[in-house]
Amino acid sequence: MRIAFYDTKAYDKEYFDRENSRHGYEIVYHEEKLNPKTAVFARGAEAVCAFVNDDLGEKTLRALVENGVQLVALRCAGYNNVDFRYAYNRIHVVRVPAYSPYAVAEHAAALLLTLNRHLNRAYNRTRDFNFSLVGLTGFDLHGKTAGVIGTGKIGRCFIDIMKGFGMNVLAYDPYPAKNSDLHYVGLDELLAESDVISIHCPLTKDNYHLINAETIAKMKPGVYLVNTSRGGLIDSEALLDGLLSGRIGGAGLDVYEEEADMFYEDNSGKIIADDVLARLLSLPNVLLTSHQAFLTRDALENIAGTTLGNIDDFFAGRALANEVCYKCDQEPGACTHEKNGRCF
Ligand code: NAI
Repeated sequence: MRIAFYDTKAYDKEYFDRENSRHGYEIVYHEEKLNPKTAVFARGAEAVCAFVNDDLGEKTLRALVENGVQLVALRCAGYNNVDFRYAYNRIHVVRVPAYSPYAVAEHAAALLLTLNRHLNRAYNRTRDFNFSLVGLTGFDLHGKTAGVIGTGKIGRCFIDIMKGFGMNVLAYDPYPAKNSDLHYVGLDELLAESDVISIHCPLTKDNYHLINAETIAKMKPGVYLVNTSRGGLIDSEALLDGLLSGRIGGAGLDVYEEEADMFYEDNSGKIIADDVLARLLSLPNVLLTSHQAFLTRDALENIAGTTLGNIDDFFAGRALANEVCYKCDQEPGACTHEKNGRCF
């Protein structure tokens, strides 16, 4: 049984090879991202393994199906890059719903702490024997208000961390957690009251550019914004304007809406054509990491284990606990998942 593995990095290979010693697949690793052109590399494979910036639109899926691929095994939680309407009844899609919410929540907290206490700038200064503190003033998180958008697995880990700092936490989620002691408020109230806002919801067609000029105008002046979810949740040009006007005091970003061709690669020798990204990176109060919030040893082990487990289940004809289709999201109960353990 062959798996065509796309967008491979050294750490993927290390963890998947180790886990695969218990499964025995032939894994063919490709450095290229999956897209309509590279889909042909999957010829002869029964499954493909894809990641966050692979293109799983209709053209790619059609090419995969034509080449005999039966399963897309996403090695990530988010699935906004998949055309599920096309996939339905043609090719199954499984994912890794949770591999370490702690990894992502801790990274969001790291971005916040680094921004607030200017650790990135302090690190550079002291290495140059510049021991000046001018410009490095932060604020106590204790007693301030954190607004958390999305209270799923990662959001709730982040809330626990913020509570550990002694922060008041406001939460917004269209589907609030049942029986929780979270303090849910409307989005406008969260925007107006929070000193720190962290985004932990999926990107859907309904919340594209959730953070835009209008919502930024409702935020507390000087607010710190953290996004470890998906770049498309923030209108980057509006974010840049908000930072330039001072409405936003700082931004910690692990994702960027135009990241697909840039992130995970060394572009240091290239001219960056994306002016918004270049301007954002020129600001001292912007901290950008390259979609690395998931990157811990624990998470990589869980990703490899769950992905190969999903593939085992598929080819053994078992129920697919981690299958997703568009009906799962939009018409719960409309697909056959609950009855047969598979979406179709
Ligand atoms: P989850 O499914 O456990 O929770 C998501 C929560 O967001 C749910 O409670 C849902 O009701 C809520 N939600 C949906 N639409 C919303 C909206 N418009 N406004 C506010 N809340 C909304 O997901 P989990 O595991 O907590 O992951 C959250 C997101 O984090 C993922 O969708 C993914 O995009 C991102 N992620 C990023 C990683 C990284 O390395 N940077 C790694 C893993 C996930």
